[in-house]
Amino acid sequence: MQFDMEHLEEDARYRLLTALVIPRPIAWITTRNDDGSVNLAPYSFFNVLGNTPPIVAFGPSEKSDGVRKDTARNILERGDFVVHIADRELAEQVQKSAARLPYGVSEVEALGLNLMPSTTVATPRLKEAKVALECTFEKTVVLGDNEIFFGRVVTLHAPPSWFDGEGRLVPGSPQAIGRLQGPGWYCTTSEQFNLGPMPSAKSFEKPSRTGP
Ligand SMILES: Cc1cc2nc3c(=O)[nH]c(=O)nc-3n(C[C@H](O)[C@H](O)[C@H](O)COP(=O)(O)O)c2cc1C
Repeated sequence: MQFDMEHLEEDARYRLLTALVIPRPIAWITTRNDDGSVNLAPYSFFNVLGNTPPIVAFGPSEKSDGVRKDTARNILERGDFVVHIADRELAEQVQKSAARLPYGVSEVEALGLNLMPSTTVATPRLKEAKVALECTFEKTVVLGDNEIFFGRVVTLHAPPSWFDGEGRLVPGSPQAIGRLQGPGWYCTTSEQFNLGPMPSAKSFEKPSRTGP
């Protein structure tokens, strides 16, 4: 099958992209509302895009009434946010936190989750999530209807038990959920495999022939 993405209807385009570009990591994001309460929502148009400085980006669409989603609004108004990476145990709460609650109603409280202070940003982080990336807002890039948010990761939290004596992350320790097609499909990273070191150009050299 071949699809002309420019002329496809918006919904069909979305369904294809989100069903085929998989698995997508899920940024489970806390931000601060005007009244200081904490907003929580998942975003799977998300990834880490750079290392120096460490950069993450996510793509919030508009709400159906054409205004920015609460996460986007809060980041623009307050300048920081925390991205959490959830594992299977938190999957149901990740999905539930996507409910369209009125602005100012905290999904954290509605779901009975708990907060703790972050180290370097004012937005608190979720106690329940094993991985948290404290981020400062960098910029948005607008491409058509997409307003893509870029953040700089200033502090990263992960459980000490995932690291060996030399401080290296033990492969397989982090388990995350990823998003597949909607509605409601997810995967885990429970099956992981290792292909050894990166190949060098030498591994593509044809064996040289000697003799006739
Ligand atoms: C797993 C998951 C991933 C999602 N990813 C996105 C996304 O990348 N962009 C987006 O605009 N909405 C996404 N949504 C929908 C938002 O989470 C939803 O609109 C939510 O109400 C936004 O909350 P907020 O207004 O508090 O930011 C996703 C929903 C789920 C369940």
